[in-house]
Amino acid sequence: MTTLRSTLFSALFTCFTVMAFAGEGMWLPQLLKALNEGEMQTMGMKMTAEDIYSINQSSLKDAIVHFGGFCTSELISDQGLLLTNHHCGYGQIQSHSSVDNNLLKNGFWAATKNDELSNPGLFARFIDRIDDVSDKALAGVADNMSDSERQSIIDKNLEGIKGSYTLGDFQDLQIRPFYHGNQYFAFVTTTYNDVRLVGAPPESIGKFGSDTDNWVFPRHTGDFALFRIYAGPNNEPAEYSENNKPYVPKHFLPISLDGVAENDFTLVFGFPGRTNQYLPGVAVKQTMDVLNPAKINIRDTALKIIDQYMRADEAVRIQYASKFARVANYWKKWIGENQGLKTTNALGRKQKFEDKLVRANADSNAASILKDFDSAYGSIEESALARDYYQEVAIRNIELLNMQRYIRALVKRYDNNGEEEYNAYKQRLSGFLDNFYKNYRPNIDQEVFVALTQLYAEKLDKKYLPKSLNDSKYSTKSKTDYSDLARLVYENSVFTDKEKAMKVLAMNAAEAVAKIKTDPAYLLGVEWEKTYNEKISGPYNGQKSIIDSLQRIYMQSIIETFPNQRFYPDANSTMRVTYGQVKGYNPKDAVYYTPVTYLDGVMEKYVPGDYEFDVTPKLLELYENKDYGQYADTNGKVPVCFIGTNHTTGGNSGSPAIDAYGNLVGLNFDRVWEGTMSDINYDPSICRNIMVDARYILFIVDKYAGATHLIDEMKLVHPKKDIDWQGVDEVEQVKPEKLSRKMKRKMRREAKKNKK
Ligand code: ARG
Ligand code: ASP
Repeated sequence: MTTLRSTLFSALFTCFTVMAFAGEGMWLPQLLKALNEGEMQTMGMKMTAEDIYSINQSSLKDAIVHFGGFCTSELISDQGLLLTNHHCGYGQIQSHSSVDNNLLKNGFWAATKNDELSNPGLFARFIDRIDDVSDKALAGVADNMSDSERQSIIDKNLEGIKGSYTLGDFQDLQIRPFYHGNQYFAFVTTTYNDVRLVGAPPESIGKFGSDTDNWVFPRHTGDFALFRIYAGPNNEPAEYSENNKPYVPKHFLPISLDGVAENDFTLVFGFPGRTNQYLPGVAVKQTMDVLNPAKINIRDTALKIIDQYMRADEAVRIQYASKFARVANYWKKWIGENQGLKTTNALGRKQKFEDKLVRANADSNAASILKDFDSAYGSIEESALARDYYQEVAIRNIELLNMQRYIRALVKRYDNNGEEEYNAYKQRLSGFLDNFYKNYRPNIDQEVFVALTQLYAEKLDKKYLPKSLNDSKYSTKSKTDYSDLARLVYENSVFTDKEKAMKVLAMNAAEAVAKIKTDPAYLLGVEWEKTYNEKISGPYNGQKSIIDSLQRIYMQSIIETFPNQRFYPDANSTMRVTYGQVKGYNPKDAVYYTPVTYLDGVMEKYVPGDYEFDVTPKLLELYENKDYGQYADTNGKVPVCFIGTNHTTGGNSGSPAIDAYGNLVGLNFDRVWEGTMSDINYDPSICRNIMVDARYILFIVDKYAGATHLIDEMKLVHPKKDIDWQGVDEVEQVKPEKLSRKMKRKMRREAKKNKK
């Protein structure tokens, strides 16, 4: 262990060869100085690492906010104005929508702060500082220990570390493993719980191209929404209250009006969720050949059913919009991922890397780790597949069974802890249940149930079926059909109907629990979970912990074998910086995609009345009159999206794309189709992230929505025209274009003086 730690650290002071070429990597902000600053500056960055992350002064990191734990957002005014993606705020926008007041369709712009809409449950989290606690976390751990021994020492160490921190009133501490358990970092965070919806374009802009264009470039989506963080009287976190005030940030991002050109430096700052760059080939093969195809098939089946109903009925479309988008998103991602893994020959590459690793370090244990991986992945395959089936069928895609997880938890509270805990949990469930029933159509769900249970039964060994699915009434050798079971469950369960469910939940605890325990949906959920726990999760977890510890020593072996290479840790929902350049790419032979798209492309895709590609009259009018204000590019066109070589993943949505000087130039929201395998096999030649151009956002807020009061809050800058602005503190709150030329000259002189 000490060897690895010292390798990682001696590495900080040696010369690196970059693993691939610049663009790849999700780096820790506090290590940029040691690992990345030089390269970033060579690529065009004009900032220092300290400008990006500092615990002594305000820095870019103070403007970067974890949005609800699943997306990224950033502050863009001194009044707590928060920018993120439309698809990140989608659930909130939808929750304020109805057929009569459809914010998804029409968009929403709060005219004053009093009109901003509160969102219970939504939080905004800041990272106050990041500390390397590896030495303490791994103290007393030895190579020859069993996994459980090792883990119990680490757990104890982490408790000790937590105890050693003095946290402020509103602070929390999270300690996370990195490099698959070879390092540990502690994150001190502050979380705000009053986050209100300020503005959102209509879906025809914010989700233009919808699922057809999702994961695709050339792209023309204005995927943004605006929120605002509210704070208590002393700018501290506070639960929602009318008396709360807009949060005053330590730092917010100025917005560049100068746009981007090919090869410009960009940095994306955010919270990438999960990547798997260091898997052995055998694992990649399993994902490609076994797990992805199964999950794609299940979701394909569910989506086809829901899509029919959504197309037929506007109310259903609103109710299912968010759920459908969520399911469709990864369905499509896995399809792209599989294609990309094939076209980039991921398996061949892994093989080559593994050969090199074994050759480079003949006496290391790499060869035996790889052999152990082979057998561990062989052993886990069946239960991993069954686990994916259970999660996709009984948890994610059959809604009635999904909600039963909470009902089971409620009953468990009563059985284990008594009435008081039951009531407390019931209270907590009420918001969830309201939302569930607001968007629930039992007839659609029942059809999904019939189709997915059949898939489950046909594809998996009988031993993985819960008792009811194994009943010969429904399932024989020649035929599997659960329509009758579905009828029985959906017609007799109280949970398919809000009124009936609420009536039961209104009873006293003992009565309610007795009634729930005879409910057919509850019973099926219990049965299925039991089968899962006994037959699937046990074997799966056993193998998985073997794989996890192999992955840890494999990672260690890679780092030790190539001490002069720089390795970035896989994403784990912690704060990261990734950087690259604005760049087009060759999606296929003889085709080159230039990096910036324009409003003209929206018009090319426009299909009147289409639910994915419609354009509103207002946008058409602005386009026809070329009424672009200050937001057109030098070519006279309004830019919409652009791409770059920044290495991003799910969770990076809503991340700011920042220029060489620290200004916002774009808003990350997606990746290109040919590069969707980047989580497993990043390929710098075709992996690109997709960003909304900041000027399109401003154009929509200003010219389209007329929300000029929001533009007035922001700080718009011309970094390319006025290079020295960044050094001049006095102009912080002044828009450069409003200053006289004489004033600008004076400030430039001063900036120069300050530099000397
Ligand atoms: N693919 C992007 C991401 O993974 C955007 C998803 C939202 N858009 C959509 N059409 N579903 O989140
Ligand atoms: N669209 C993704 C997100 O929501 C970003 C990505 O996967 O590239 O985080």
